[in-house]
Amino acid sequence: MRARRAAMSDEPKFSDEQLEAGRLLFAKPWDFRTSVTDMANLPEIHDTEIAFAGRSNVGKSSLINALTGRKGLARTSSTPGRTQMLNFFSAENTPLTIVDMPGYGYAQAPKELVAAWTDLVFAYLRGRPTLRRVFLLIDSRHGIKPIDEEAMALLDKAAVIYQVVLTKADKIKPPALERLTEETLSRLSKRPAAFPEVIATSSEKGRGLPELRAEIDQLLKS
Ligand code: GTP
Ligand code: MG
Repeated sequence: MRARRAAMSDEPKFSDEQLEAGRLLFAKPWDFRTSVTDMANLPEIHDTEIAFAGRSNVGKSSLINALTGRKGLARTSSTPGRTQMLNFFSAENTPLTIVDMPGYGYAQAPKELVAAWTDLVFAYLRGRPTLRRVFLLIDSRHGIKPIDEEAMALLDKAAVIYQVVLTKADKIKPPALERLTEETLSRLSKRPAAFPEVIATSSEKGRGLPELRAEIDQLLKS
């Protein structure tokens, strides 16, 4: 696969039709379906699933809310470790399920809780044939940290394709964002299961959301 120089590319990746299809997918009445703390209770899934993963506080829940245009859909908080379960979201007559994953790297969580999250997350990643892609969120202000490398190693091992999404892009200046995108792409090129494209987003300002919606919509059609 060709590594796409996302920040440099003059040509938009998506046509107006594709962006519109993405918009329509996320304009559906997205709703909370269930929360799961162990594999035995995973909902039966017949369609495509995508999951949002990343460090605590990186903006997973905010991104789900921004994509769906539903502020309170996924619970957000300035306290890290807010999402402690796998949370499933669906919309009627829509062949897509969205999963909000518990954040990793939350230092204050008791040790056993951290281990349980990791076990659950890994079991989920390995045992979910309908999981098409994990969107791995990275805070634009911090870039890829050692703990993110650990998560990537886990994803590589589980052989689940993951695509990096930079969050909180409103917090850094455009040249820094461009540099970060390039640097991130180059680090991903060494990872077996990493998707060779990066999308920079801001849940607050809306940046990158139309593209991410289109990307997800295209997944359903491929
Ligand atoms: P856990 O559930 O604890 O793993 O966190 P999370 O990854 O779901 O993060 P959450 O969406 O709760 O957001 C954490 C904090 O970051 C909140 O205070 C959000 O308001 C803030 N935040 C999220 N997205 C953005 C963004 O695009 N821009 C800015 N400036 N702040 C953001
Ligand atoms: Mg959350």
